[in-house]
Amino acid sequence: MSLRSNILDLRKRKKEIQKGGGDKAIEKQAKMGKLTARERILSLLDKNSFHEYDLFVEHAAKDFGMESKTLHGDGVIIGTGTINGKPICIFAQDFTVAGGSLGLMHARKITKIMDHALKMRVPLIGINDSGGARIQEGVNSLAGYGEIFFRNTLASGVIPQLSVILGPCAGGAVYSPALTDFVFVVENISKMFITGPSVIKSVLGEEISMEELGGAKVHAEVTGNAHFFAKTEMECFDQIKTLISYIPRSNSKKAIPHKPKAPLKGKKVEDIVPSDPRIPYDMRDILKSVTDGSEFFEIMEHFAPNIIIGFGRMEGETVGFVANQPMVLAGVLDTDSSDKAARFIRYCNAFNIPIVTIEDLPGYLPGADQEHAGVIRHGAKILYAYSEATVPKITVILRKAYGGGYIAMNSRHLRADFVFAWPTAEIAVMGPEGAANIVFRKEIAEAENPEEMRQQKIQEYKEKFANPYVAAAQGYIDEVIEPNQTRSRILHALKVSENKSVFMPQKKHGIPPF
Ligand code: HXC
Repeated sequence: MSLRSNILDLRKRKKEIQKGGGDKAIEKQAKMGKLTARERILSLLDKNSFHEYDLFVEHAAKDFGMESKTLHGDGVIIGTGTINGKPICIFAQDFTVAGGSLGLMHARKITKIMDHALKMRVPLIGINDSGGARIQEGVNSLAGYGEIFFRNTLASGVIPQLSVILGPCAGGAVYSPALTDFVFVVENISKMFITGPSVIKSVLGEEISMEELGGAKVHAEVTGNAHFFAKTEMECFDQIKTLISYIPRSNSKKAIPHKPKAPLKGKKVEDIVPSDPRIPYDMRDILKSVTDGSEFFEIMEHFAPNIIIGFGRMEGETVGFVANQPMVLAGVLDTDSSDKAARFIRYCNAFNIPIVTIEDLPGYLPGADQEHAGVIRHGAKILYAYSEATVPKITVILRKAYGGGYIAMNSRHLRADFVFAWPTAEIAVMGPEGAANIVFRKEIAEAENPEEMRQQKIQEYKEKFANPYVAAAQGYIDEVIEPNQTRSRILHALKVSENKSVFMPQKKHGIPPF
């Protein structure tokens, strides 16, 4: 064959394989409102940047009539490319080929690109759309998952790992996404569960739809497995692109800075927060008053909304924000919000992203429900995460900082580098009402006018403790600042902390309260 005919032959072979599972299967995929694996990769990556590997890999199954079947690419596409010029590794399961099920060669392709991502220190993006372990390949499928989980763990904290759920993700297959840093789901398309509706029906006799069991909303709002929820696949890809713009490519780099921008001129900072500590406000307004261009990229927006986590930029540099949300449950810490914040703090710490904490909370949520749900164990995670973090850590206390909440939200005692407080800050063991009722119970009960006495004692307690000056006098707070100085103080603290270096005790690893 001449070179020309060799080239034509190569093109023909490629074209045939790139058809995936064929027209009928692709039509079915489109009917479900889903793009194909190849369309997804091409929509997500920069134009003409995708390079595919292992296109010619075929399955190796020999049983159940599989030996006579052709599975193009063995149901998964792998390769490298760029997103806004940044290199990434990617795999996308192709549901049109044997339901994207995972057999030996399919798993080998995935683990090859995972190894590549880890070696090259670039983010790994996995698009999951699969019926799970390929039933005909038995233990080889299970082995494949095990190899993936092992690599997810090895790569954890070294390179960013993103999982995009764009179809079913069933059985043990869900554990690869669960081991990764960020999980993206799309309404009506994503499904994640360990045991599906048919198993539930046969074992428990209960009827439940796939959507109710493990649809996108369930994971974005209830389980906390998903970090980003989108209405369409294209919206989801935009979220991925934005996330990639904020994070560094590996743990040995810093995020690439953007052009600095001032916050937009909105409400004055001091007009956002009501001075009456019982009146709520939207903490996002405060975050937007300090970030470049008032842009804030929220993570896990719909799960445990009593705490807010996400990225913003200050003078062009990525910052991780953790902030109480007074609009939801007064911003208390509970099991879910502690888990949410703790994991994010560990992410920022692993990837050299400074953490800014904005505080306004009445403490941990009381009640038997929370105690029995393990608020001790879950609540400890946030203490652990802040204490072990060695990136720059800055705290601003706006109003309430009561009890365990004060300590947990990156207090000086957990080694905050800078702690600022507004003059409206109240740092105390508990709120003045509760404190007066306990400490002066006897005086109140014995008073001629108990209510008058109660109010007097509340006032006394407020004057003594419900202000930032007692903590400032101890040096627990570095500076009491005026609200409009918030951005400039954080910026200066970040600048001073750029070269931060601390020594922690040598250990193999700690034992966080998982
Ligand atoms: C082999 C599979 C498959 C699988 C789907 N297919 N799942 N082949 N192994 N696990 C094939 C189907 O036979 C079909 O082939 C094609 O993919 C499309 O599947 P459909 O069922 O027609 O699609 P749909 O109606 O959309 O239903 C999707 C589905 C369903 C809900 C995912 O296919 C399903 O329930 N699959 C099995 C899910 C499951 O139980 N997986 C094992 C989980 S246990 P044809 O040739 O007809 O087009 C597990 C253990 C991992 O994963 C443990 C790791 C630790």
